Amino acid sequence: MNLYKNLDIDKVLEILDEQVLQNTGRHLLESERLLIKGSWYGRDYKEMASDSGYNSDYLHRELAPQLWAMLSEVIGDGVPVKKISLKAALLKLVRKDYLGLEVSKLNNDCLVGNTRIYGELPKIESFYGREKDISELKNQINHLKRRCISITGVGGIGKTLLAAKLVEETLLDNLNMYETIAWIKINSSMDNLFSKLANAFNLEVNNESIEDKTLILSKYFQLHRSLLVIDGFEQLGQIDNFKKRLEYEKLFIQLAGEQHQSCTIITSQLPLEEVIYATKNLSIGSFRLEGLEERAAMRMLNEKGLWGNQCKELIKMHRGNPSELEEVADRIHRLFEGSVKKFFDYRTTVIGQLLQSMLNQQFGQPGLLSDVQRQIMIYLAESTLESSPPIQFSKIIDALKKRLGLEVSIAEAIRAIEILEQRSLVETYRKSTNQEVSYNLQPVIRKYILVDPFKLVHRKTSELQTGESQTSNFIQE
Ligand SMILES: Nc1ncnc2c1ncn2[C@@H]1O[C@H](COP(=O)(O)OP(=O)(O)O)[C@@H](O)[C@H]1O
Ligand SMILES: [Mg+2]
Repeated sequence: MNLYKNLDIDKVLEILDEQVLQNTGRHLLESERLLIKGSWYGRDYKEMASDSGYNSDYLHRELAPQLWAMLSEVIGDGVPVKKISLKAALLKLVRKDYLGLEVSKLNNDCLVGNTRIYGELPKIESFYGREKDISELKNQINHLKRRCISITGVGGIGKTLLAAKLVEETLLDNLNMYETIAWIKINSSMDNLFSKLANAFNLEVNNESIEDKTLILSKYFQLHRSLLVIDGFEQLGQIDNFKKRLEYEKLFIQLAGEQHQSCTIITSQLPLEEVIYATKNLSIGSFRLEGLEERAAMRMLNEKGLWGNQCKELIKMHRGNPSELEEVADRIHRLFEGSVKKFFDYRTTVIGQLLQSMLNQQFGQPGLLSDVQRQIMIYLAESTLESSPPIQFSKIIDALKKRLGLEVSIAEAIRAIEILEQRSLVETYRKSTNQEVSYNLQPVIRKYILVDPFKLVHRKTSELQTGESQTSNFIQE
């Protein structure tokens, strides 16, 4: 697919005009077309003026600033459009249009440009914000040459969608960057990652040892530049099987090796280092995903028909978690006629399904939370209110010892709380580097612990049998 075949500025103007009409209700003016064309060809304002009979000062000082402001809104995607950056913005726009590309429309195994796309990419129906996250990830891939990057964060925070968006943008940026882009979704801890990889890359493997299989894949990555996404890796991380962990470790040692141009993106609720102990020495980039920034979350709520100042409170309460906000917006429509104010009058905290199932897993699955970690979470939930300040580390230690009679060493407590932090289960506050660190819970997690809907929270680790079956029939609300 040659993207720029037959691409000329008139075609670009046609596409742009359509966008401007959709967004502002009017067409591009003749004078605006002149400025856009001139900028496309790199002309300065004087040249444009002499070609057209317009006054150069008028074009430069009056028309241009208004036009760039309008185009920033219409095609900027959060980045201001100026004369110098106009062409890049227009190319991005037409690329999208020419390609007609939406990740979700791709087949299971198809060609886009010269890139073979394998696997079922998730649908992107709407996507807000995350400009910084995407550019940081691109930077890690393209400039820092990370061969393996993990995107971690709580359930529903947007890891999968972000990875899908990254794939889409990568294709839009360059259709020929990768030979293959493979999307592998892990559905259960029983999934066989190695056979999924073999299918994705058409590797000829039979009864080879895991070492040999990883070598074959590594060789493939050297010869064929590939982008691999492993989505939902936490499922595999939950296995308490030393041999399996070693296999993954070997795999990641190969994937993160420097000698190839391919890249692996892993989305996981659990930080990778909890699953693969060797990661510290490997060049694996880790990227912890937080909620949407307020502006993007606000756009999302507005689009869902929620308005008013209290939307900000809603966003804060859910830490910008998009899936939480989606569910709460739904509920506000169903129960409170779309009034955020009424929702707050009744003061209720809604837990979304994705975050809830993550918490079910954390509290219900043996081996995920230690007793100390569990007690830290319970203590924080019982000792704080939504508006109370975070609790200092030393106070948490005292409480563990006094209140709970737990014998914990400082080192043990530090490690326990670090893991909670990496899993985004607790929030950390440190005003300055020499101040003692304090901890808190986000409101939804506090509510889950206090309500304990499945009676998973207060169990001792030794009492837990199997995680999933206990939690399958929860009725929300
Ligand atoms: N940037 C975003 N813009 C709009 N909606 C989003 C965004 N990120 C996530 N969502 C919504 O939240 C849902 C959960 O996101 P997902 O990526 O599946 O979370 P995770 O993989 O972290 O559990 C998505 O299906 C989508 O509806
Ligand atoms: Mg996901």
